[in-house]
Amino acid sequence: MIKIAIVDKMHKDGIDLLKNNSKFKCEVIENLSKENLMSKLHDVDGITLRRGKIDSDILEKCKKLKVISRHGVGYDNVDTKFLKQKNISLLVTGTTTSVSPAEHIMFMILNISKSFDLFDQSVRKGNFDKIMHTEHKSFELCNKKILIIGFGRIGKKLIKRCLGFEMKVLVFDPFIEKKIINNLGGEKIDDLNDGLKEADVLSLSVPLTKLTHNMINLKKMKMMKKTSIIINTSRGGVINEKDLNEALNKNIIYGAGLDVFEKEPPNEDNPLLKNKKVLLSPHAATFTKECTSNMAIQTAQNIIDFFENKLNKLMIVKL
Ligand SMILES: NC(=O)c1ccc[n+]([C@@H]2O[C@H](COP(=O)([O-])OP(=O)(O)OC[C@H]3O[C@@H](n4cnc5c(N)ncnc54)[C@H](O)[C@@H]3O)[C@@H](O)[C@H]2O)c1
Repeated sequence: MIKIAIVDKMHKDGIDLLKNNSKFKCEVIENLSKENLMSKLHDVDGITLRRGKIDSDILEKCKKLKVISRHGVGYDNVDTKFLKQKNISLLVTGTTTSVSPAEHIMFMILNISKSFDLFDQSVRKGNFDKIMHTEHKSFELCNKKILIIGFGRIGKKLIKRCLGFEMKVLVFDPFIEKKIINNLGGEKIDDLNDGLKEADVLSLSVPLTKLTHNMINLKKMKMMKKTSIIINTSRGGVINEKDLNEALNKNIIYGAGLDVFEKEPPNEDNPLLKNKKVLLSPHAATFTKECTSNMAIQTAQNIIDFFENKLNKLMIVKL
């Protein structure tokens, strides 16, 4: 029997797929402490991984491990260098995690640009008429420029939604050809600073790497329009949180939406939690019925396909 550890609970549809397959013996591991993972993972052949950090100390103990199937597409919680050295495969869930995040980004852009929370509160607080005569900060998306940083699976879903709102789309992704961006209706930006200066909205959909860590800091935000908004659904470290808080407080930018944080959950004293100019969600861009089910099914199917030697190459991370 092939032994699989399901690290961190996932949607039942994925767990059932593995449990109902007679080739596999599965255990769901909910305690994600390093000690527990060390003691539980040493004899497994495969791991499905949602939250939980799999570092080299843990991997060192996993003498039989052949594959890690990530529940999602980011893999900054795994020691990829170690995986490469030991020839352990790393799989991701491909396009299953792109529609919901793209919709989440649109929701955040719309919520902020339409001052939605203010309107909601004004109705509840009996200010229905009063709000009519205040100076409106809400703005139309039509003809506004969005800069999408990272034009992968999510970026490509996002552009369609932005074009539907008649926005102009600028794309900064040095690894994607101009032709591909143009064919999808975007304009390739070669110098990030040029894009930042023009953008009314900035959306980040890049992996967290040495190059993207803190790629948006105070210096970059100062290049942006005072009326601009920033949406980050990628990874917390991509924006410098302290700088973002300062930029919002000093009106360097207008607003922000964050689904991800440098430390998750964020510390109680993280000033962004009290900052009214930022809209927050708990790493929830994929929390839809469709996405959680599809992601879990794909995570499980990747394990099955791996051991049956029929894996779709698009699911394999080149280490
Ligand atoms: N909030 C959530 O729940 C959630 C859900 C899914 C994905 N994510 C995050 O979003 C990221 C993007 O997801 P995806 O599926 O689109 O990934 P992807 O791998 O398909 O696309 C990432 C794109 O970023 C580009 N890129 C890499 N380094 C860059 C750089 N320095 N500057 C500009 N572009 C760069 C790559 O060329 C690629 O096109 C993931 O890495 C993950 O961390 C978050």
